[in-house]
Amino acid sequence: MPCDLTVQIGTLTLGNPVIAASGCFGYGVEYADVVDLSLLGGVAVKGLFLAEREGHPPQRIVETPAGMLNAIGLQGIGVHRFIREKLPELRERRATVIVNICGSTLDEYVELARILSDADGVGALELNISCPNIKEGGITFGCSLNGTFDVVSAVRKATRLPIIPKLTPNVTDVASFARASEEAGADAVSLVNTFLAMAIDVETRRPKLSNIVGGLSGPAIRPIAVRMVYECRRAGKIPVVGMGGIASAADAIEFMIAGAYAVQVGTANFVDPFIWTWLVDGIRDYLQRHGIARVRDLTGTLDTTAREKEWTSS
Ligand SMILES: Cc1cc2nc3c(=O)[nH]c(=O)nc-3n(C[C@H](O)[C@H](O)[C@H](O)COP(=O)(O)O)c2cc1C
Repeated sequence: MPCDLTVQIGTLTLGNPVIAASGCFGYGVEYADVVDLSLLGGVAVKGLFLAEREGHPPQRIVETPAGMLNAIGLQGIGVHRFIREKLPELRERRATVIVNICGSTLDEYVELARILSDADGVGALELNISCPNIKEGGITFGCSLNGTFDVVSAVRKATRLPIIPKLTPNVTDVASFARASEEAGADAVSLVNTFLAMAIDVETRRPKLSNIVGGLSGPAIRPIAVRMVYECRRAGKIPVVGMGGIASAADAIEFMIAGAYAVQVGTANFVDPFIWTWLVDGIRDYLQRHGIARVRDLTGTLDTTAREKEWTSS
């Protein structure tokens, strides 16, 4: 049985629902000799500010049980160099490009959106309002409902590209942020960014990261991320792009059943950069085995009826 793996985010069609997560796949071109970028649903490139940034000094990464902690500090080449040096090759390789943008101020998000709207080859903008590792901007917007609404509506006015605010899990009620994004005109929301966390070297009593705190990612966070995707899907109508610890096709499928329309994969790429074809093949195989013709029909198919019956009868 042939399966339709395409998914739609606003005006953007993805060939399949598997996207490389921002910050874990460079600008995509670094992998182009080993991964066929056109076979990925999308490539979310490393977060970009207007200007270049050095990020934090080392140590910027620490391994943790079933995950990793990072405080890169959004090192990046800035939007102008990205357009000059990376976008032409991404276009040539027929990648579906999602540009992750970060601002210290609302005006910076708007300016980035304007610049990228005029660039050839950008499929969508992911608004990083959730990076836990920088002091200015970013998560300050993402932890405030008004801040989220203001950034999304300002960017909405500045671009016709699909916009996907990326939500932080470091809030009590993530679904309210999905609703605020939808009301402000977002085409989808993506979640989760990393969880604020820290690790200490007990011998020296020093923090393991130079930034003291960082963001936790990888399989350790997956069940919390699945719950948050479930909540956001129930809270609104726009598509949810789910991520957090996906390392197999079954993990991706779990997110989709919970309510994700598409998924992103970050940390697992550091373990296995060839994971992409496995994931897409595994999803296709699952759809065939379950007689589901279109991947979008899998979204939100969680069956809670048996559990609800158990609860009401106990
Ligand atoms: C080293 C590293 C760098 C990251 N950089 C970014 C970034 O620039 N922008 C962003 O929105 N998220 C960034 N993230 C968060 C990931 O895109 C993703 O939301 C998170 O890691 C959870 O997914 P995972 O468990 O599959 O890695 C980064 C994560 C890691 C591990």
